[in-house]
Amino acid sequence: MAPPTPPILSGHDSSIIASICKTYNLTPSEFAQLRDRAVAAKATSYSPYSKFRVGAVLLSKSKIDITTGERTTTESEEGTYTPGANVENASYPVTTCAERVAFGRAITEGHRGFKAVAVATDISPPASPCGMCRQFIREFCELSMPILMFDKDENFSVLRLEDLLPLSFGPDQMGVESA
Ligand code: THU
Repeated sequence: MAPPTPPILSGHDSSIIASICKTYNLTPSEFAQLRDRAVAAKATSYSPYSKFRVGAVLLSKSKIDITTGERTTTESEEGTYTPGANVENASYPVTTCAERVAFGRAITEGHRGFKAVAVATDISPPASPCGMCRQFIREFCELSMPILMFDKDENFSVLRLEDLLPLSFGPDQMGVESA
């Protein structure tokens, strides 16, 4: 049986946001940042073919020195927000989704310890990450990490990675320690 469709919640109702934050271990300020930065990232989309803009933002809490792999202490308490947007190509399959643009940037900048991912589009109900992006996210994030999906009105649904990608295959199966 297909899993139930998640409810669409108001992205600006403080009591709803407070309860979601409690469930997913976010602060209301982090939620607002994720919402506003995902929407802002959407404006940076290069999508002349589909005209379907997607913005993504990743909240991370730790950092490594990318050349040595050592944890550094330079990450601020507030964490880092890394944005991305879809980048299309005249050869359509070459297109890269917003989520993978954001993760590519974050990983090569040394960001780790992802606490949440937010995605924003111009449609309703909210769009969820494509299958390829779910697998890409799986490489770097815990299965319990929330993925917030904002629609054209900044209302949202939220699911954990394990709900979007059940029975998933990841670095652990390949004997590689999670990033
Ligand atoms: N797209 C994303 O950026 N993320 C997704 O998870 C789904 C699809 C983009 C790719 C393409 O530029 C446009 O949306 C239409 O498929």
